Amino acid sequence: MAPEAAEQAEQIANEARALLFRASSADQVEEMRVRYLGRKGVLSRIFASIPRLPPEQRPAAGQAANRLKRQLTAMVQEAGRRVKQREGARLFTFDPTLPGRRPPMGHVHPLAQTIEEVSDIFRSLGFTVAEGPEVELDWYNFEALNIPPEHPSRDDFDTFYVTDRMLLRSQTSTVQIRTMESQPPPVRVIAPGRCFRPDTEDARHGSMFHQVEGLMVDEGVSFGDLKAVLHIFARELFADDVQVRFRPSFFPFTEPSAEVDCTCPACRGSGCRTCSYSGWLELGGAGMVDPNVFKAVGYDAERYTGFAFGMGIERIAMLKYGIEDFRLFYQGDVRFLRQF
Ligand code: PHE
Repeated sequence: MAPEAAEQAEQIANEARALLFRASSADQVEEMRVRYLGRKGVLSRIFASIPRLPPEQRPAAGQAANRLKRQLTAMVQEAGRRVKQREGARLFTFDPTLPGRRPPMGHVHPLAQTIEEVSDIFRSLGFTVAEGPEVELDWYNFEALNIPPEHPSRDDFDTFYVTDRMLLRSQTSTVQIRTMESQPPPVRVIAPGRCFRPDTEDARHGSMFHQVEGLMVDEGVSFGDLKAVLHIFARELFADDVQVRFRPSFFPFTEPSAEVDCTCPACRGSGCRTCSYSGWLELGGAGMVDPNVFKAVGYDAERYTGFAFGMGIERIAMLKYGIEDFRLFYQGDVRFLRQF
């Protein structure tokens, strides 16, 4: 090998790299292997020439030759892998007669299905569906709903605050105010949507949940109308023979106020585990719109009356489908979701 051993080795390596790059079959790669690494190949000749060099040049030439050997071996291996892979790929030819692969299809979440079903029932009773933002002003979540600052009942609607005046709504009652501020009576709306409260998660609670709000305002709307609407709703949702009852309660934005129960759809009122053997299950809260709320939105409280109600969507879905754990709705487990 000449004195410029390293330079010459590099030239040989470059040439081999170019040739191997063009090799497109295992045979061609083998041909290259023989040419460079074979017994009578380029590398053998180089090694054979080293003893004929002047002694002081031999170590450098030997090093260059060894390095070249490693390079060539690696290149041949790499080229071998490459052509093998390509030949393998050629076996998988496209067959247009095979049936297509079905893409995995999702479907509507059980909570969204419940919201749809609830909305359909109220639409059939002449209600339209309204929406409001999830990040709200204090005014809509509290103040206009007759819950001034420092009022103790703020505790009942435990709230995530964003700033002093902004929060994640803890109830859909916000949409009552937004609706009334934007239109004169008569009003007949429902408002399904997400709500947030810093609750510890368990089988019945989570920090995010859904409610559906209802509001009807007109001249001469009575508590009897409220009872009729919710009774029809429960009947449509569960069964023809479902009973509804109203228990006295308190909400700052309704007067009088009530908790609404229906006979347990699981046992039809005879008592079972679902209803803790009482035969009744709570659907939500309701009442006649408090005159202070009408004042806040500029409605004439002498002329108009109205009712409002709010129910938990998860609760309704759990009753309807016999689901025992609230958290299942939010875990995204397809084994659960596929059942709906
Ligand atoms: N917003 C109340 C709650 O979250 C429910 C309710 C709505 C009560 C409308 C009365 C009227 O508990």
